[in-house]
Amino acid sequence: MTNANAEIPSPPAHYREPLTIGTHTLVSRFNLAPLAGYTNLPFRLSIREIGGVGLCTTDLVNARAILESLKKTHELLAQDPAERPLFVQIFGSKPHEMAGAAQWLVERKLADGIDINMGCPVRKVVAVGGGSSMMCDTTGATVDLVRKVVESVPVPVTVKMRLGWDDDHLTAPHFAREFEKAGVAAVTIHGRTREQGFAGGVNHDGIKRVVEAVDKMPVFGNGDVRNVADAMKMITDTGCHGIAIGRGALADPWIFRQLANWVNTGDPGPRGTYAERIAFMRLHLRRLVAWRGTENRGCVHFRKVATWYTKALRFPKKVQQRLVMLLSLEEFEEIIAPFADGVPEGWTEWDTQQAHVAVPAGPISHW
Ligand SMILES: Cc1cc2nc3c(=O)[nH]c(=O)nc-3n(C[C@H](O)[C@H](O)[C@H](O)COP(=O)(O)O)c2cc1C
Repeated sequence: MTNANAEIPSPPAHYREPLTIGTHTLVSRFNLAPLAGYTNLPFRLSIREIGGVGLCTTDLVNARAILESLKKTHELLAQDPAERPLFVQIFGSKPHEMAGAAQWLVERKLADGIDINMGCPVRKVVAVGGGSSMMCDTTGATVDLVRKVVESVPVPVTVKMRLGWDDDHLTAPHFAREFEKAGVAAVTIHGRTREQGFAGGVNHDGIKRVVEAVDKMPVFGNGDVRNVADAMKMITDTGCHGIAIGRGALADPWIFRQLANWVNTGDPGPRGTYAERIAFMRLHLRRLVAWRGTENRGCVHFRKVATWYTKALRFPKKVQQRLVMLLSLEEFEEIIAPFADGVPEGWTEWDTQQAHVAVPAGPISHW
């Protein structure tokens, strides 16, 4: 992580060349990595408006639940015509369900592409051979499942995975190579193993091995990128064709615009100002309310993200305590009114690097 005075590295020239995934030419090589519970319609739409995002993907959705048209999936699949291209991430262990869900989505024009999750750690999914356990099966079943999805839809299919189950089983290079042969359009690699969870550093060398294993298929490096210097290091160390950013986007929704500016001009340009951050938070809340259908449900959802806003904006503890119990839009306006016209003494845009984004604990701690 760098500080405000760190030198901005020169961008890699080839990052200015457009990158294509299937039929979609991306506006930048910086994608939003899915974060279940966070990267829903309200957040995606809001960061798209800031600009610079290449591709967004929905949170992960259960293939079977899609086919059964469960109510929960409707919210997860909610989208806006302004956010194109949009890929839908699905998970499951049964090839016919995965292929069926992909077809269902494409027929209804809900997905410009399908992203297959191979990182899901939920025990009941892993126990039946789905999610990250798919990375253990090098006998052919995993590749067959992916091929079946590819063959069942006319849109590009991508895969998101970790490096492997553990350090002794770094299967990502093998799978990336096989997926490319099966017609997969791109892969995103979180440079940790499932066993690592979110601990330890990101293994850039592991991502590099995936890049080297494929022929032409784009590989997106992923993990711990929070600013231009981190992005540059990811690109230099791994040779990745693009980068997916998750927590860094929650902490700093301006990161995509900055990275795109940096690539195009060498200068990342401004981060979000204090006033822009307040406006973004308000917009996010209003969209959460619209998306969840009632003011109360939207406010309850907002409580989950209130902490990262309060840290980034340096709100006093008391304000944070109120925001994490938020009940209405009116209350929100009353709480933030004292901060509307001023910037707290000593605040810098770099404070957002301190924004706290909780990683999943318990059975979903190993995305
Ligand atoms: C709260 C949270 C939820 C996540 N949900 C998903 C998900 O639904 N699908 C997925 O493929 N990865 C998921 N991930 C993993 C991220 O996409 C990403 O690989 C990981 O956070 C590392 O990237 P980052 O350091 O840029 O956040 C999740 C991570 C977090 C912290």
